[in-house]
Amino acid sequence: MAHLKGSERAAYVKNMFGRIAGRYNLMNRLMTGGQDMKWRRFVVKQAQLKTGDKLLDLATGTGDIAFEALKSVSSLQVVGGDFALPMMQVGQTLPMGKQVGWTGADALNLPFAENAFNAITAGYLTRNVIDLPRMFAEQLRVLKPGGRLVLLDSSPPKNNIFKPFIEIHLRFIIPLLGRIVAGKNGADAYQYLPSSTQAFKTPEELAAMMTKAGVRNVQFRTFMLGTMAVHWGEK
Ligand SMILES: C[S@@+](CC[C@H](N)C(=O)[O-])C[C@H]1O[C@@H](n2cnc3c(N)ncnc32)[C@H](O)[C@@H]1O
Repeated sequence: MAHLKGSERAAYVKNMFGRIAGRYNLMNRLMTGGQDMKWRRFVVKQAQLKTGDKLLDLATGTGDIAFEALKSVSSLQVVGGDFALPMMQVGQTLPMGKQVGWTGADALNLPFAENAFNAITAGYLTRNVIDLPRMFAEQLRVLKPGGRLVLLDSSPPKNNIFKPFIEIHLRFIIPLLGRIVAGKNGADAYQYLPSSTQAFKTPEELAAMMTKAGVRNVQFRTFMLGTMAVHWGEK
């Protein structure tokens, strides 16, 4: 779970997403009251895609960001990369599933050439990755010069008047929904999500890490009382 480190943590994450793939989209809509698609559209907007561009949607999962990108620009080439194949197998069955180039890919060792993409999007990857400097290095390697990197992830709750309500949502509501919707085989995923969120970087810390890794003009915006953040920058 969230306390695991290194390759043990990566193996847990890969296996966990394989187990919850069939219930993943439904859980997202329930946990966020349907808000999650709004953040994904914001991610796509920040990628500033143009006709004919090539996008890598990394940690694509069931492809929600990839599909939003395809809707936003014509003649876009979208590669969806993820290390949990069952998540992408669900995505392949969805209405736009045939328009994405699904590719088995580990974010720490991307199977793509240098300067291959105009933009990279990644939803809920960063919090799961065991080596952030290496993840950024790989993303910068495969982006074209001037290419855009846009990351979406959950953020630890800030110390303000909303914190007790957010903690109730994280500690009780999400795990309860997980037990009901994902069942015995997937309930642990919805304990991992709140615990890894609470242990994750603040938006300010993540922005500083991106800048240190060499991403230029880093900016971010938070959503849902500061519990979701979208970071973006350029190669
Ligand atoms: C919460 S899902 C997000 C899916 C999708 N981006 C979305 O917005 O719904 C996180 C995804 O990250 C993938 N992932 C986590 N670590 C990864 C890594 N090191 N390399 C590739 N994919 C990874 C998982 O397999 C999972 O499909």
